[in-house]
Amino acid sequence: MTLLSLEGLVAGYGPDVPILHGVNIRLQAGEIVSIVGPNGAGKSTAMKSAFGLLNVHQGKILIGTEDVTNSRPEAIVRKGVSFVPQTENVFASLTVQENLELGGYFNSRSHVAAGLDRVYSLFPPLREKRHQKSGLLSGGQRQMVAMGRALMPDPKIVLLDEPTAGLSPKYADEIFKLIIDINASGTAVLMVEQNARQALMISNRGYVLVDGRNRHEGTGAGLVRDREVAEMFLGG
Ligand SMILES: Nc1ncnc2c1ncn2[C@@H]1O[C@H](COP(=O)(O)OP(=O)(O)OP(=O)(O)O)[C@@H](O)[C@H]1O
Ligand SMILES: [Mg+2]
Repeated sequence: MTLLSLEGLVAGYGPDVPILHGVNIRLQAGEIVSIVGPNGAGKSTAMKSAFGLLNVHQGKILIGTEDVTNSRPEAIVRKGVSFVPQTENVFASLTVQENLELGGYFNSRSHVAAGLDRVYSLFPPLREKRHQKSGLLSGGQRQMVAMGRALMPDPKIVLLDEPTAGLSPKYADEIFKLIIDINASGTAVLMVEQNARQALMISNRGYVLVDGRNRHEGTGAGLVRDREVAEMFLGG
């Protein structure tokens, strides 16, 4: 079952200059899918478009079979999609739990409690630190807070833009393990990653974007084995 599709997406930051020139991306139930590619390829732009943050000039965004093209982010969240942006994804002056509660903004009170329970069982260190200011956490733990906040509404789909950016290899490994756990708990994951090889290794499928266009696609393992992809985009 297809949960999310970007079909022939032409989109950008203003009404005139497109950054994406007809991008096609699909996420099926149960999948982890990665989008990789060079800096400036349009990976974040594709994620932001999917979440209703940009102008779509042409093409469509579907959640399931429902056309949500040019819907607002609040509407997208209500349809079961959460987004963790690439930067500034946690309120540093708020505690861990306050950040998580913000993610439960659309939940009823009992759902907030259930959401906290679910997030704390996925990320036990956050339970211990729930009353600490998020700004005092390590980078890896801040990323857990950002991901936890996105999981509060119990989404069908989570969009992660560079979840391991700026993290040490040890923390990056930890985050990749958590992504596998999140997926195993029933949430489909679409992520953008600079740690492309590692991301593809845990992905069912992947897309290589270049200059706002699809360049390659395949299974995660297949893309890692592909000589051209490996040489051009995965550092040999
Ligand atoms: N807020 C913005 N306003 C105008 N142009 C933007 C904006 N953000 C990004 N762009 C432009 O859109 C293009 C694609 O950027 P995008 O951030 O999607 O790339 P990316 O693939 O995510 O790169 P990176 O790997 O560096 O995160 C770039 O040319 C960039 O300069
Ligand atoms: Mg980006």
